[in-house]
Amino acid sequence: MFNNVSAVLVCSLVLFVSTASAGQNAAVAMPDRYSAIASSKVLKDGGNAIDAAIAAQFVLAVTLPEAGNIGGGGFMTIYKDGQANFLDYREVAPQKAHRDMYLDKNGHVIPNLSLYGILSAGVPGSVDGMWKAHKKYGTKSWQALIAPAIELAEQGHIVHPKMWDNIEWRIKTFDEQGIKVNFSKHFGHAKAGELFKQPALASTLKRISKFGRDGFYKGETAKLFSQFMEENGGIINETDLANYQAVWREPIVYNWRDHTVITAPPPSSGGIAILQWLTMFDLVKGEQKLAHNSTDYVHVLSEIGKRVFADRAEYLGDPDFVNVPVEPLLNIDYLKSRAKNISFDKISATNHIKPGLKESTDTTHFSIVDQWGNAVSNTTTINYTFGSGVVIDELGFLLNDEMDDFSAKAGVANVFGAVGGKANEIQPNKRMLSSMSPTIMLDNGNVKLVTGSPGGTTIISSVYQSILNAMEFDMDVKQSVNSARFHHQLWPKDQIEHYSGIDASVLKSLHDLGYNTIQGSFGDVQLIIRSGDKYHAASEAGELNRGMSITLE
Ligand code: GLY
Repeated sequence: MFNNVSAVLVCSLVLFVSTASAGQNAAVAMPDRYSAIASSKVLKDGGNAIDAAIAAQFVLAVTLPEAGNIGGGGFMTIYKDGQANFLDYREVAPQKAHRDMYLDKNGHVIPNLSLYGILSAGVPGSVDGMWKAHKKYGTKSWQALIAPAIELAEQGHIVHPKMWDNIEWRIKTFDEQGIKVNFSKHFGHAKAGELFKQPALASTLKRISKFGRDGFYKGETAKLFSQFMEENGGIINETDLANYQAVWREPIVYNWRDHTVITAPPPSSGGIAILQWLTMFDLVKGEQKLAHNSTDYVHVLSEIGKRVFADRAEYLGDPDFVNVPVEPLLNIDYLKSRAKNISFDKISATNHIKPGLKESTDTTHFSIVDQWGNAVSNTTTINYTFGSGVVIDELGFLLNDEMDDFSAKAGVANVFGAVGGKANEIQPNKRMLSSMSPTIMLDNGNVKLVTGSPGGTTIISSVYQSILNAMEFDMDVKQSVNSARFHHQLWPKDQIEHYSGIDASVLKSLHDLGYNTIQGSFGDVQLIIRSGDKYHAASEAGELNRGMSITLE
């Protein structure tokens, strides 16, 4: 159907030959202090980046319930011993799911059904993901890597004010919207600054520690999981759990400027979107230097965003179910044709931007580099903040609401305002389209930058802008994560979402061009950059947002 026109991509088997000196130190950028301490300890004790990532993933399932999880899924981009690899541990739709499961008898989407409550959950992938990562790359024992999470669940962790704010917000908004879930029963008693213990979760983690993947997908955990589903009108059963498999995929490997970018392939839309954005940016600006966050800069990147999101809605979905034209979408001639009618002076009409080929505000991310220069960029999610709001009582973890990332009905927006069509319609065992974009950039075969972010569709803008901040504007790691970002995704029409920090005069010029600008929130970027022979790490907004970065000497 599509021509394979370019040699842009791909493969995990390419061995990158390093010709520059690598960084001399390890570093982690983490969404909270518990994961930062646990993962850096693994590195100090001689573990590699993948060992550290596994420890962080399980700790975050305890200390960051908004997004950290064993009840969700994610993507891990890996650079190890000169080879790139990608682990897809995205959730899948259960066997009993079907295309119209969120529609009423008149074909209208039933509000909130794909977003909250038991029917919004996909079959979780995180535990099998970590298990497969460990089997392939782990050097520390599985039990040792899960031990910090068990201790934090059993002995408790101190609740950060931000976690408490989020819990209060979630309970209030569930009440206001009449959403009947058991979230407050499990999290309502957590108090800022106080110890919060999760004994049921500790027991689940102990089974995972003892029996590996089978401690989650089989035996007592699977039985309690499916019983809970049956008693509460859910559709995930023991067979769905037993059948779940995380998948190794070839990452997208693409040359941008003098650098090699290793990023997420479908079912992520993020890797393609980032590379389209970065490449078209260079094509449109040519030799010009655009000032950071100037009107021209924001406008040009928004125009590109329209084209990126039109392609996303049409072509992208689970590659095991639909033919995703990855190479054509990244072909330089195609991108030239997409970029050529972008004007510095006017906005293109939203309705005229069509796909071009012929034919959660939550989630969490962490970045790691180890002492050998191996890297992990890992984004993990239960989708919206605190996922479905449903905790499996006896297992103590939150279920994702990832089914909302499918297109419930062609053209109807999901919680992130993203629309989709046939490529992303619901089918049993299919993976829902994602924006998660864990990315590693190489410079002469050595890791130069590791980046990623939460934030639904805004993930893509956060990631490509963190790259531009570092590579186009020479910002240091802290500036790169903390400078104001913006996002445009075709729909809503001509709307730019932005952080506070974009100059008032720039906002005025954007209004004059015809944009509507709204202040929004983005996820926290976790970034590591090598400068000279040193890795520097930054967690956006640091302790204020409960993030923490650690640079080891
Ligand atoms: N649940 C957010 C994403 O995967 O894009």
